[in-house]
Amino acid sequence: MNAHTEIDPNAHDIIPENSDQATSKAATTTLLDPRFYTTDFDEMDRIDVTPVRAQWDEMITKMAADPNKGHFKKNENWDTPDWENMDPALKAELIDFLVSSLTAEFSGCVLYKEMKRRGNNPDICQLFQLMARDEARHAGFINDALREADVAVNLGFLTKAKKYTYFRPKFIYYATYLSEKIGYARYITIYRHLEANPDKMIHPIFKWFENWCNDEFSHGEAFALLMKTDPKLTNSFVNKLWIRFFLVAVFSVMCIRDHQRPEFHKALGIDIDWYDREVLKKTSDISKQVFPIAIDLENPRWEKNLLKLRHASAAMDAAKRKGGLMGNLAKVPAGLRAAKAFASLYLIPVKSDHVIEADSRMVPSY
Ligand SMILES: [Fe+2]
Ligand SMILES: [Fe+2]
Repeated sequence: MNAHTEIDPNAHDIIPENSDQATSKAATTTLLDPRFYTTDFDEMDRIDVTPVRAQWDEMITKMAADPNKGHFKKNENWDTPDWENMDPALKAELIDFLVSSLTAEFSGCVLYKEMKRRGNNPDICQLFQLMARDEARHAGFINDALREADVAVNLGFLTKAKKYTYFRPKFIYYATYLSEKIGYARYITIYRHLEANPDKMIHPIFKWFENWCNDEFSHGEAFALLMKTDPKLTNSFVNKLWIRFFLVAVFSVMCIRDHQRPEFHKALGIDIDWYDREVLKKTSDISKQVFPIAIDLENPRWEKNLLKLRHASAAMDAAKRKGGLMGNLAKVPAGLRAAKAFASLYLIPVKSDHVIEADSRMVPSY
C-alpha cells in the first residue's frame, strides 16, 4: 500500500486477500479492535523510579540481557501452512486472529518507541526502548506469517494511517499493564493446550508462544513497577473506580472478540468459554500483584451479563451489516442492551481481600 492509497472504511468486515486489504483492516478502528495510543509523554518522562530502584535495576538488567534475541526466526519447526487448501471460514478467522494480534503487538511498539523518542529520563527511555525492541520483533514475526498468505500488513503505512487514541498516562498504565498480562495469559494458555494436543497445531506460530509470552510477562512487570512509583495511582478512591472500569472493559472485549472466531477455536480444539475463563482467571490472579481490587469472576452475575453483552454486541454487528434505516434503528436498542450489560458487570461487588507486598514481582509460572 502506498501513501496515496485510501483506507477502505469497510475493510474491517472483509476477509483480506492482499496486503492492501490487510493493511486497511488493521488500520480501521472499531470499539473492539486493538488501538494505537498517544499520551502525555512529558508527564511520563517525569516518572521517578527511585522508590523501586533496586527492583527496577534488576528488571532492566534482565531485559537488556535479551533472552529472546534469537527466538523470532523461522527454523525447521516452522511448517508453512497450506493456505491454498485451508477451509475458507477457518482461513478467514486465522487471518483475522493474526492481523488483530499483529495490530496489538505493533500498537505497543509504536507507543513505546514514541516514548523513547520523546523522553529525556534515562530510566524511562531505556525501558521503553527495550520494550519497543520486543514488540517490533513480535509484530515482524506475525507479519512474516501473514506474508506467506500474501496478506502482510504495511506497518509503515499503518503508523501514519491508523487513528491514535489519547489516553492520560495513568490510563496507559492500567490498559497497557492489563493488555501485557492478558497477552501473556492468552499465549501461554494456547501454548499449553497445544503442547497437550499437538494434532491441533493449525499454524506453526503457536510453537513460538512459550518464550514469546515471557516478553509480555516482563513488559507487564515493568508497568506494575511504574505504578508502584506512586501509590495514589492504584489506591485513591477514584483510581480504584478507573481500575475496575479497565478490568471489566479489557476482560469483556476479549470475550466478545474470541467468540467472533468459532472456526478458529474449533480447529484448535479449544472451547472458547473454557479458554476465556482460564485466561481471565490467570490475568486476574496476576493483577493482584498491583491492583488492590479484583473482579469477582465466580459471581454468577459475571458470566450471565457477559453473555448478555456478547449477544448485544452481535446484534449491533448484525444491524451495522444490514445498514440503511432499519439497520440504524436496530443499533439503538442493541446499544442500550450492551450499555446495560456493561453497567451490570461493572456493578458486581469487587474482591479486595488480597495483600499487595512491597516487592510483588512475579515470574511466569503457568
Ligand atoms: Fe508483544
Ligand atoms: Fe508486550
